[in-house]
Amino acid sequence: MKLKVWIKANLADKALSCLRAELVELIDSESSVLDIGCGTGDLLFKAAYKLSYGFGVDLDADMINFANRKCEDNQISNLAFESNDAKSLNLPQFNIATSTLCLHEMNEKEACTVLRIMAEKSEKVLVADYATPKSFLVKLGIEFDEIISGHYRAFRRYRNAGGISEYARKLGLKINRTIPSAIDGIVIWEIYS
Ligand SMILES: C[S@@+](CC[C@H](N)C(=O)[O-])C[C@H]1O[C@@H](n2cnc3c(N)ncnc32)[C@H](O)[C@@H]1O
Repeated sequence: MKLKVWIKANLADKALSCLRAELVELIDSESSVLDIGCGTGDLLFKAAYKLSYGFGVDLDADMINFANRKCEDNQISNLAFESNDAKSLNLPQFNIATSTLCLHEMNEKEACTVLRIMAEKSEKVLVADYATPKSFLVKLGIEFDEIISGHYRAFRRYRNAGGISEYARKLGLKINRTIPSAIDGIVIWEIYS
């Protein structure tokens, strides 16, 4: 297993476990779910027991290979994963489209394109991404994480542009509610298409 996949699966995914639980709670039973920028597929694996079908897409082929191998090893038949750019897929309709900590890595035009696709391809969109943290230390931690992960310029533009709320407003999408995660600095936006 590649080091970046090991780190993602064993450290980052574990650190996000309470966010996963919050999102799984917002997913209705028997839903079909599209997860954009799915990484190792952790959210879909956690939600698999209540899904009719889950489809994860990510640019990173190593993450997708990990997710596909995990499906095979555990004989999970209601999930599928594809390595691709979310903007260039020919997608069917889903009940729910989700994206976790992905849109802030994109420039505004790309993020709005992806958010529009999510809204067009689903009845309900759940975006979990960065918002202003309460704690100054958390704020510093997020800035540091974005610097070392190489997305700082995109993250700064995301933050200065007003984040997901502003992208949704520009696209004319209705935010039904915003749900602060127990993880300071992360918010879930529930958007109806
Ligand atoms: C910070 S990671 C989050 C991964 C996962 N959602 C999670 O919560 O653990 C962001 C992911 O978005 C993916 N990504 C970025 N742009 C993408 C695009 N245009 N299409 C598909 N995936 C993309 C990256 O490859 C990366 O795996």
